[in-house]
Amino acid sequence: MATIVVIGESGQLAQSLRGLPWPPGFALSFHGRRSFQAGFDAELVGRLLQAEAAHAVLNAAAYTAVDRAESEPQAASALNAHLPRVLAAACGALDLPLVHISTDYVFDGRKGAPYVETDVPNPLSVYGRTKLEGDRNLDLSGLRWWAILRASWVVSEIGETFIVKVLRRARAGEALRIVDDQHGCPTAASELARAMQAVALRLLDRDHAARGLFNYCGASEMSWHGLAEKTLLTAEKIGLARPPLQAIKTAELNAPAQRPAYSVLSCARIAQACGLTTTQIEDDLDRMVRSILAR
Ligand SMILES: NC(=O)c1ccc[n+]([C@@H]2O[C@H](COP(=O)([O-])OP(=O)(O)OC[C@H]3O[C@@H](n4cnc5c(N)ncnc54)[C@H](OP(=O)(O)O)[C@@H]3O)[C@@H](O)[C@H]2O)c1
Repeated sequence: MATIVVIGESGQLAQSLRGLPWPPGFALSFHGRRSFQAGFDAELVGRLLQAEAAHAVLNAAAYTAVDRAESEPQAASALNAHLPRVLAAACGALDLPLVHISTDYVFDGRKGAPYVETDVPNPLSVYGRTKLEGDRNLDLSGLRWWAILRASWVVSEIGETFIVKVLRRARAGEALRIVDDQHGCPTAASELARAMQAVALRLLDRDHAARGLFNYCGASEMSWHGLAEKTLLTAEKIGLARPPLQAIKTAELNAPAQRPAYSVLSCARIAQACGLTTTQIEDDLDRMVRSILAR
């Protein structure tokens, strides 16, 4: 049995990895907060990987509270920058493949065209800066078999995601005010998990083409307001009355963290290197909305 160690347990990506069918002979072992109460010590992580007889590591853990990170930079840095360095060192010592996830928030959003992997990052927030540091730590680690999937706007029916929050408000009959001046590509967590799995299996086969940094996001570009509208339309077809939805500007929110206004990612590299295509969020919305409304 080949054990894949997943860092993270109850998060939307970790849960989506759990929900995937894996080829025969693979078993997943999840390690979230409970396994790391003493912090992310290189020795501890190394012992954990040895005890699990790990064959590969998938890092689905991160500090993802973008606004809170502005006032908790050390906590964000521990998870987003330090943990990838520790994982890379532990995987390097055991020659294990490591797949890690980055974010579109490493960019400032001023390019005006889809970002490619070689574009120079310029994060606007603590979250973006700490995630970028994590990417660099992995790149500089000397680890042979690593890949980073740079994702954007990850959504699912799991946890406190945008779609879950929109539907909660809609169910309560509350009016919604959502920004229409941030544009990106919503990515279904299940699709990101599928891509992570495909890349991990290639790295386990020592496929050189699967090494390095890849963008991976959904194929439809929209604003958060656009995503809310699609979510509410989907819910309406299932019988949920549509609440009023108003488009507002980012500046009106006064959020602690600045976000890129345009963070569409080009996924050409992963398509060419690994044959991985991305799907449109519309393809997954019906399933997500039904699952949320069934609760
Ligand atoms: N969400 C987005 O919109 C978005 C966009 C672009 C990229 N990403 C990236 O996608 C990846 C997955 O994000 P997600 O949306 O699945 O995140 P999430 O739902 O917020 O889950 C975060 C995960 O991190 C783990 N974690 C948090 N603190 C921890 C700690 N101290 N020790 C160990 N584990 C800890 C959690 O473990 P437990 O299971 O124990 O709680 C959980 O599994 C991350 O790298 C994120 O940066 C996310």
